[in-house]
Amino acid sequence: MTNQENAKIELKLDHVYKSFAKKEGKEILNVIEDINETFHGGEFVAIVGQSGCGKSTLLRMIAGFIPVTEGSITVNGAKVIGTDPNRGMVFQKPTLFPWLTVQQNIEFTFKMRGILKENSEKVKDMLNLIGLYEFRNEFPSQLSGGMAQRVALARTIINQPDILLLDEPLSALDAFTRMNMQDEVLGLWQMRPQLAIMVTHEIEEAIYMGTKVLVMDKNPGKVQKLISIDMEYPRNRSSNKFVEYRNEILETLHFGVKEEA
Ligand SMILES: Nc1ncnc2c1ncn2[C@@H]1O[C@H](COP(=O)(O)OP(=O)(O)OP(=O)(O)O)[C@@H](O)[C@H]1O
Ligand SMILES: [Mg+2]
Repeated sequence: MTNQENAKIELKLDHVYKSFAKKEGKEILNVIEDINETFHGGEFVAIVGQSGCGKSTLLRMIAGFIPVTEGSITVNGAKVIGTDPNRGMVFQKPTLFPWLTVQQNIEFTFKMRGILKENSEKVKDMLNLIGLYEFRNEFPSQLSGGMAQRVALARTIINQPDILLLDEPLSALDAFTRMNMQDEVLGLWQMRPQLAIMVTHEIEEAIYMGTKVLVMDKNPGKVQKLISIDMEYPRNRSSNKFVEYRNEILETLHFGVKEEA
């Protein structure tokens, strides 16, 4: 799919609600309340919000793993009613096939689709990009958590989904690897600007990576603020503008510095 076609990707969240039945009794837990947003190919939406505000639940509904309770989610007008290879998800914890090597994990979908031969260079490039070419014949159990997460990322990104869903994909990485991976993920997204939606606990990561930052409120989870980040890439983490965005998000989350009376 070309970039122009990607720009046409439209994800529409229309009055989306999600509730779960509580384990005991007939009570209902309202997790997501009335989310109304439209996102397009070429955008990188970073979602921040306190633990339990429904970030993963929102991503899982977009992926089609779980249904909405009310409202609808559509991609270019077609209702999301299950999973689709065009919506790729990377989870908080790496989910790799333990019986396959690093390389076999990354090339898994190509193999299933019978297009491995013509994509073998791509697999090699990806192994180099994530710095795991030397580890290509290792099994997931032999990798550190960070390395395993890079394989999980590579495995999803290499399939070029139209919508890339990332649930705290970089949380397990050490600070240096994490900053490198932020640039790598951005580089991959910019090469072929699909719609990326990434949950993160790091406000700085959200500002560094997102074209938009969606701040969620909790109990029930809803959109508190959608902030467009108007800065060129690569972004300077210590610039005034960056710090202003950081303060704006902290204030939205009620962690702002109180001015003295
Ligand atoms: N399958 C489920 N059944 C019942 N309750 C659920 C289910 N999945 C999520 N929840 C509840 O929904 C709320 C939101 O959970 P979710 O995992 O989406 O939060 P989150 O924002 O991703 O949190 P974190 O930042 O800790 O990952 C929580 O109260 C959680 O207990
Ligand atoms: Mg979560």
